[in-house]
Amino acid sequence: MPYTMIIALAIHIVSAVIWVGGMFFAYTCLRPSMGTLEHAPDRLRLWRAVFARFFRYVIIEIVLLLGSGYWMIFMEFGGFAGAGIHIHIMNLTGFVMMGLFGHLYFAEWLKFRRAVDAEDFPTAGTRLNRIRMIVATNLGLGWVTIIVGATGRYWG
Ligand code: HEM
Repeated sequence: MPYTMIIALAIHIVSAVIWVGGMFFAYTCLRPSMGTLEHAPDRLRLWRAVFARFFRYVIIEIVLLLGSGYWMIFMEFGGFAGAGIHIHIMNLTGFVMMGLFGHLYFAEWLKFRRAVDAEDFPTAGTRLNRIRMIVATNLGLGWVTIIVGATGRYWG
């Protein structure tokens, strides 16, 4: 395997781990622990601070996933015609994840952030619930994408 492929694959895997692992932590560890904060405004302010940092990383990881993914396809596999079915599936589920994240970011997160800053906590709570649903969906899709991407070479 050429060393450039190893570098691209390393960037790709680390980006996937940060994105999907971050969603796993937020959904299954942080969310159930939020109840330890007594007041809803405190919980919403903490989510705002957490997401402001996490979403910045997600944007970077999306750029890296796309860059490294297409680099492997076009520089190593000679285009989509030379790529296995698992790569086509990954491309599809990856784009669904990125589309959902785009909606989460531009439609829900920006409004959530504005609502928290304006201390409109009922609106912030509604937006947070939608963010939660999108993260749950993307977490499931993330598992599928990782499994397909990592096992595909044995069946794709
Ligand atoms: C959307 C565009 C994407 C493209 C074009 C793409 C492309 C690729 C390519 C070409 C490979 C190498 C496969 C092989 O060596 O057989 C790969 C591997 C992989 N991708 Fe993606 N990918 C994309 C999105 C994603 C996303 C969103 C995730 C996870 C969240 C992901 C996770 C993985 C994993 C875990 C591997 C396997 C690494 C390994 O063990 O070899 N990919 N991807």
